[in-house]
Amino acid sequence: QKIKIDITKTAGFITDEALQAIKKEVVDGLLTLEKGTGKGNDFLGWLDLPTSVGKDEITKIRKSAERLSAQSEIVVVVGIGGSYLGAKAVIDALSGYFSALNKDSKRPLIVYAGHNICEDYSYELLDLLKDKDFSVVVISKSGTTTEPALAFRLLKELLEKKYGVGQIKDRIIAITDESKGALRTLADKEGYETYVIPDNVGGRFSVLTPVGLLPIAIAGIDIEKLLEGAAFMQKETTADKAFDENPSAVYAAVRNLLYRDGKTTEILVNYHSKLHYVAEWWKQLYGESEGKENKGIFPASVDFTTDLHSMGQWIQEGRRDIFETVISIEKPKYKVEIPSDRDNLDNLNYLAGKRVDEVNKMAEIGTRLAHIDGGVPNIRVVLPELNEFYLGQLLYFFEKACGISGYVLGVNPFDQPGVEAYKKNMFALLGKPGSEKETEAIRKRLD
Ligand code: PA5
Repeated sequence: QKIKIDITKTAGFITDEALQAIKKEVVDGLLTLEKGTGKGNDFLGWLDLPTSVGKDEITKIRKSAERLSAQSEIVVVVGIGGSYLGAKAVIDALSGYFSALNKDSKRPLIVYAGHNICEDYSYELLDLLKDKDFSVVVISKSGTTTEPALAFRLLKELLEKKYGVGQIKDRIIAITDESKGALRTLADKEGYETYVIPDNVGGRFSVLTPVGLLPIAIAGIDIEKLLEGAAFMQKETTADKAFDENPSAVYAAVRNLLYRDGKTTEILVNYHSKLHYVAEWWKQLYGESEGKENKGIFPASVDFTTDLHSMGQWIQEGRRDIFETVISIEKPKYKVEIPSDRDNLDNLNYLAGKRVDEVNKMAEIGTRLAHIDGGVPNIRVVLPELNEFYLGQLLYFFEKACGISGYVLGVNPFDQPGVEAYKKNMFALLGKPGSEKETEAIRKRLD
């Protein structure tokens, strides 16, 4: 079964004529992507990942995952941006809400590092790890990113203290460039097991490379099923499919039409808060791909119904420059029925016998209608269930739509030049060798 996209509730906001008119631009964008003739075309390796990851690679990943799991109570995944969000998104979405508390679990606890520079986070993580058996998966395509490099330095020192200098190489796996970067040099010198991030896959499109697959496999999630789902969506989104049957094309078309109509913020909504990090992954995917040349839809996200009690007011009645994309899960994994209560003091007996999901679904439908009445167009992406296969579809659906959408917007969706600005200033402020001139200039600005 294919995940579905429902755009019926954008009808009052975009006309059918407009949709017909943008089709050509979208199809052109899709063809440009598939022929590899557009901007950033040296970063299109992700298009074929679902079908190009070989059986041998999957077997190797599974073996590494089993080895690290067997020897570790905790595995630390070190990375930032595209080198961590995909793994966290899938692991959170497909793990139990409270699985981290399960003391009988045969799986190690997965924690993250290198995605911030917070000293208290570093302290508390090292404190947690000092009495535990742990291993590290360090991920950096460039191999030079400050945040993960700093975290890895701290973790390596702790590993050496615990297990002895020269005794830690089996506790570290590095995922990085084939030949370039400080992490590659270090991994080769120390003899760590390594995986390669292909040159032609950018960080935010790398969830289906070892960057995502190894941590996901360590969490006990079926990476083959995830890839199967993505491969299914790869077929469903090719240029030879009819436009209306291609969910990525339809999504790219509708969001660009809404943007042109002044809807400059897109809010990704879920009703299952396990999807919180899918939204974080999506925000990076779209934010970093489209936010350039003073253009782009601002990607935001909320967890409903939780955030209906905080952001609901703004969405219902604030500035009318937003639209929503709701990820809707048709069938929950488990069944919980609402009990009848003898005294009914909470007046909820009218719900007795109903499933909790029915209340969630009515909240979803009610919110959708209320927001449309409030002037917020609504796109719905429907997954029959939350499992590896449908999540694989969802990831690829969003990636393909992002590539198309970026081309429709007229930007290079595969670069991120703006990310360098903060780094330049930070290095100058820290007095990095080679930044002397910048250091002097920035200090003057601060005086
Ligand atoms: O999408 C991207 O390219 C970025 O988010 C990178 O993944 C992030 O900056 C981390 O880079 P690296 O993997 O080189 O450490």
